[in-house]
Amino acid sequence: MYKGGLIQQVAGSRLVRPRTNASNAVMAIVETPRLVLRPPIGSDVEPMMVIHQNPDVIKYLDSHVPGDIAVAWRNVAIMIGHWSISGFGPWTIVMKESSQIIGRAGLWYPAGAADVELGWMIRRSDWGRGFATEAASAALAWAWQHVDTDHIVSSISAANTRSIRIAEKLGQRLESTRVVDGEAIHTFGIHRSAAMTSPPVESQV
Ligand SMILES: CC(C)(COP(=O)(O)OP(=O)(O)OC[C@H]1O[C@@H](n2cnc3c(N)ncnc32)[C@H](O)[C@@H]1OP(=O)(O)O)[C@@H](O)C(=O)NCCC(=O)NCCS
Repeated sequence: MYKGGLIQQVAGSRLVRPRTNASNAVMAIVETPRLVLRPPIGSDVEPMMVIHQNPDVIKYLDSHVPGDIAVAWRNVAIMIGHWSISGFGPWTIVMKESSQIIGRAGLWYPAGAADVELGWMIRRSDWGRGFATEAASAALAWAWQHVDTDHIVSSISAANTRSIRIAEKLGQRLESTRVVDGEAIHTFGIHRSAAMTSPPVESQV
């Protein structure tokens, strides 16, 4: 899946090895006008825990409950592991102006997943400033360059209207809807060919 990594097809199954190449790690740092997206590190655990304490932030996320430091540690460890296994994954978003961590955005492709998923999350105090759009647009552009996939999806609760707006601004289209535990979940998606002909609407910065 990752174009520059150590991924091989062996007897129909994917053999994935950890990446340790330092130049690849540098390549994975993405800069936008106001943000730096970098792969997660251990010191992200506490700020990520604090961001997830806000009920508005977790309302539409998988757990629906704020986690403690142990949950945050496990989540950051999984994100670091994703980068190690696949050569891509979710970025931690750092605001240039303050050097503070304000969320995460990026790619998710666990074993068994049908498609590469793009997700986003911004701390409550910075909603409405265009940060999610700015981060997700950069993540999507990086993905088309570095990940060997033609289709990138985002799963979004039908009630999460802010997040649906991000998907629309990225050029994603509604592809399907399923019901999970009584909640309608939309799958928005974009194909490489569409992305090349109509680039995402950038946020005004
Ligand atoms: C979804 C989320 C990432 C948006 O972050 P953000 O930085 O505020 O997003 P942006 O400022 O880039 O864009 C928000 C857009 O939603 C629009 N919006 C704001 N409130 C809205 C509402 N109630 N309904 C619909 N659209 C809304 C804004 O006007 C803006 O669109 P515009 O640029 O066309 O005006 C943020 O709300 C969040 O972290 N939510 C919790 C985590 C989450 O749900 N993640 C997504 C899981 S699928």
